[in-house]
Amino acid sequence: MHYDFDRPVERRGTDSIKWGSYPDDVIPLWVADMDFRSAEPVVQALHQRIDHGVFGYTRPTAELRQAVRGRMQDLYQWPMADEEILFLPGVVSGLNVAIQAFAGPGEGVLAQPPVYFHFLKDPVHHDRALVDPPLVRSGDTYEIDFDQFEKAITGRTRLFLLCNPHNPVGRVYTRYELEQLADICLRHRLIICSDEIHCDLLYSGERHIPMATLGPEIADRTLTLMAPSKTYNLAGLECAYAIIPNEALRRGWQRAAHGIVPWTNIMGQVSALAALRDGQDWLHQVMDYLEGNRDYLSGYLRDKLPQVQMCRMQATYLAWLDCSEAGIPGKPASFFAKEARVGLSSGPDFGKGGEGFVRLNFACARSTLAAALDRMASALGRL
Ligand SMILES: Cc1ncc(COP(=O)(O)O)c(C=O)c1O
Repeated sequence: MHYDFDRPVERRGTDSIKWGSYPDDVIPLWVADMDFRSAEPVVQALHQRIDHGVFGYTRPTAELRQAVRGRMQDLYQWPMADEEILFLPGVVSGLNVAIQAFAGPGEGVLAQPPVYFHFLKDPVHHDRALVDPPLVRSGDTYEIDFDQFEKAITGRTRLFLLCNPHNPVGRVYTRYELEQLADICLRHRLIICSDEIHCDLLYSGERHIPMATLGPEIADRTLTLMAPSKTYNLAGLECAYAIIPNEALRRGWQRAAHGIVPWTNIMGQVSALAALRDGQDWLHQVMDYLEGNRDYLSGYLRDKLPQVQMCRMQATYLAWLDCSEAGIPGKPASFFAKEARVGLSSGPDFGKGGEGFVRLNFACARSTLAAALDRMASALGRL
């Protein structure tokens, strides 16, 4: 089936956070969901379930576990037992369970800014100490300073929150980089919580390597968080999973989550199963379209807005834009919201290194992206 992503879908008035948080004349390109209809097999599976009309308690099914295992095996040659997969409503819940389970109050949690704000705010919210050696800018991309990363670790650092692929800088880490990080974590006996929610949103030529597949010693200290929500645009349906091979870690996780973090809801499960089984055609088409949008955006900036620098993107539909040379007074996101009527995520929310940046979500119809860029260009032209 051919999906027409060029045709904008009206999301105003549909309880969307992205579209409902700004006045109607603003084009919202911020929170990380896509403006596209989901894959047809997902929509059909949900219809079927709704038509049944009974929505009692449920628990993750054997078929869903089998679908997750099948995908991990096919993509990464990563075998796992059913009990290693723990379902939960969202990856952010998973980050918070990991923080509670594997670092005590006052103990250290490592993250690498600029990074998705939950990595920075949630440890502090739980009275853990944030340890945040930043990624290092290198040309149009970012690298890890391994010495600085290791030096930041103290005797009280317990947990490393890895974001791979990385939101917002769009990196897909290489095997070498992951091995270096893993070596350091093993040396200091840290637990690794690897958020790989963006792992399917890869551009041509890129390959994702789950941290836990590097070797048994690393798998033993790693929990991996994944979800069909970003991949298949199901964020409002709330279904995610943690893969935890080590039994003691699993027990620690279950203790922290007990009675607080529910399993996923029935619609989340139905949609996840349909997406994992029958969503590949949609995913290929959406990635082609997103790659076109990425190239459109970088071409536009190069030709018409050279004062805004775009970070090279290996994955995700979230572009990280450096506006520090554009002469914008104050925060660029506030400027674009007010003067261009375009809603973007504000760089400083991603921690160190975010000053002067905005994050732009281009998972929308190309005509919407083009209109937003024209508005941004005119606002900058009026400075
Ligand atoms: C790195 C990362 N983790 C987690 C999430 C959110 O996950 P969930 O909606 O499953 O809680 C996002 C959403 O943008 C993200 O970028």
